[in-house]
Amino acid sequence: MRISNPIAFILILTFCSCGKDETDQKERFINDLISKMTSMEKIGQLNQYSSFFDVTGPKPTRMEDSIKYEQIKSGLVGSVLNVTGVREVKAMQKLAIENSRLKIPLIFGLDVIHGFKTICPIPIAESASWNLDLIEKSARMAAKEAASAGINWTFAPMVDISRDARWGRVMEGAGEDPYLGSKIAVARINGFQGQDLKDSLTIAACAKHFAAYGFAESGKDYNTVDIGLQTLHNIVLPSFKASAKANVATFMNSFNEINGIPATGSKFLQRSILKEKWNYKGFIVSDWSSIEEMVAHGYSKDLKSAALSAIKAGSDMDMMSSAYINYLNNLLDEKKISIDIIDDAVKRILSVKYDLGLFSNPYLYCNDVREEENIFNDRNRALSLDIAQESIVLLKNDANILPLKKSGLKIALLGGLAIDKDSPLGNWRAKAPKNSAISVKEGLIKYNNNTVKFQKGPKLFKNPTFIDGHLNVNNTDTSGTYSALKLAEESDYVITVLGEHGFQSGEGRSRSKIKLPGLQEQFLKEIYKVNKNIILVVMTGRPLDLSWAGKNLPAIVVSWHLGTMSGEAISSILYGDSNPSGKLPMSFPRSVGQIPVYYNHKSTGRPAPSESVFWSHFSDEKNDPLYPFGYGLSYTDFLYSKLNINKIGTKSIEVNFNVKNIGNRIGKEIIQLYIKDLYSSYTRPIKELKRFKKLSFKINEEKNVTFILNKDDLGWLNDFGDLIFENGEFDIMVGGSSQDYIKSTIKF
Ligand code: GLC
Repeated sequence: MRISNPIAFILILTFCSCGKDETDQKERFINDLISKMTSMEKIGQLNQYSSFFDVTGPKPTRMEDSIKYEQIKSGLVGSVLNVTGVREVKAMQKLAIENSRLKIPLIFGLDVIHGFKTICPIPIAESASWNLDLIEKSARMAAKEAASAGINWTFAPMVDISRDARWGRVMEGAGEDPYLGSKIAVARINGFQGQDLKDSLTIAACAKHFAAYGFAESGKDYNTVDIGLQTLHNIVLPSFKASAKANVATFMNSFNEINGIPATGSKFLQRSILKEKWNYKGFIVSDWSSIEEMVAHGYSKDLKSAALSAIKAGSDMDMMSSAYINYLNNLLDEKKISIDIIDDAVKRILSVKYDLGLFSNPYLYCNDVREEENIFNDRNRALSLDIAQESIVLLKNDANILPLKKSGLKIALLGGLAIDKDSPLGNWRAKAPKNSAISVKEGLIKYNNNTVKFQKGPKLFKNPTFIDGHLNVNNTDTSGTYSALKLAEESDYVITVLGEHGFQSGEGRSRSKIKLPGLQEQFLKEIYKVNKNIILVVMTGRPLDLSWAGKNLPAIVVSWHLGTMSGEAISSILYGDSNPSGKLPMSFPRSVGQIPVYYNHKSTGRPAPSESVFWSHFSDEKNDPLYPFGYGLSYTDFLYSKLNINKIGTKSIEVNFNVKNIGNRIGKEIIQLYIKDLYSSYTRPIKELKRFKKLSFKINEEKNVTFILNKDDLGWLNDFGDLIFENGEFDIMVGGSSQDYIKSTIKF
């Protein structure tokens, strides 16, 4: 084995000879290393930059790059993000290892959110699969690809719960429910981190954004968050707590203020809750320049006081503010902070580097053979197809217009997104080549016994496509419509692929209107005038207002942004080679005016319609969403029956029932269990998801299903985050969505 770091190697050998268990060896190694570090070398570990790299290697191309370059060589940088590729990572690592005094390795981070080069469905789409096994495998595959390109750390999973479809980053999370969100967070963390971080095909994960970023007022990104402690503890924090319990290696804090204090400067969140109450031992990285942004928040006078607030609040690593590297040493000299607070942060960071095996071999992830074998191969694309098929949600299928017959049909394929090979890659596409997705048009080609003709219809976007980072949506130019309508008129069926471009959702892409963008709805209405057999395929990063389509069209398929295998997954569903099984992880509103609209809402004191206007409702809109949480159709049907609930002693309840496939196709059903605490000393939601299971059924197959609930499931968290259980009466509901279930009540 080539000894790249003799100091570290001797230290590790020394400690290995003691025969102590791994924890002691690690503890002693890290403490010994810290004892050798100067205060500036310690502060350097808390300093993270984004990459600078020109074709000849990590060479400074700008003034600030030359500072970073020198700091890396002097051991004053702990991590670099956005460096990818074995050659690039190795060159950057050599800069640190071969020049710094203590040769502490860098840790390389990247936003590997839903794939590295083989792109899987965007996270909200994967969440619609409710298939925890596939979600874990998807993260596992992404980790292998990223690790093979030198990456040690991903800034994922994003576990922010949100109820607001206007927020662009709903595409990145798992929707509106804390229970589903928690299970998916753990599946993703296990996928990224595997069984042992020392396995060089695993990467450290990062639960983000801590916390409540998804509750930005009006869904406007980075906006103010002001929520009560009940929402914080019962809706926002559960997926973070589940992540901490799953030993996620790192957390990332969030840009937003929460109840008057920026999350980056919140001691309440980062120390009281995460590091003390939950006893979290990993480290917290700030979000990009979020330390510096505390000045803009009006919370810190200047960057130096922002550095002071952030380090005291428990934000361990400074992403891109240069606050720590420029001011922590002064603050030490001025006795504004003690070295202990810095040592704690350093220890946490070195601990993750140790767990990754970077001390024994800083080039562990720099194996170019793997880069070739493990990235963008057939196996990875097959997995991406599997999860893409299970992520698709069938919202409407009147008269079973779907699946389409495979021969003898004249089909008009309309809409610019049907040939778009880039949008399906979504907003966080890591190192996916541009236009590397299979388009819908390409996916349909293999079904060649039908006549499929394509027309684009009106342009979705004007030229230039992007203006200051936003898409330049076409609201005026109807050219292309006539030829599309003519083709529609001559066809048996129309498949229209409409919705959002891949960069119409994601960070910085909040929308105040959530209809189909631009001229799309008008185009749909025009098609409807000449052919009513319309199958609408909706590409989107968020729930959209599909009210008109929901009222008028026979079939609606939500395909989200499905990644590399998009077109193949969509066509297999349209032709029935794959039976849709996805269910919504987030409610689809009837209109933006309903937002926030979500299934686990409170009753209020006037929930029910009365003869007067004096009850909780709108005069111009219904209360319930167009399509609710947990909803999704299949090409077959499932019947729930024989619900029995029995107490098991005084601690648990057994819920037993049957589910039968009563249709004429095999299919998968996402079986959901909800509870309602009928009255309690804090008001509870009208229903809460507490169990789910995705099962396959043959035709006519009936299965008996049992769930066990205990007091933790029936209780809730008080304003201190402590679990409260009160005996009382509970509705137990089991079914195929939050609105379609059978119910029984139990006193417990
Ligand atoms: C971004 C995002 C965060 C991401 C980070 C690094 O602004 O908020 O989710 O991980 O910067 O790219």
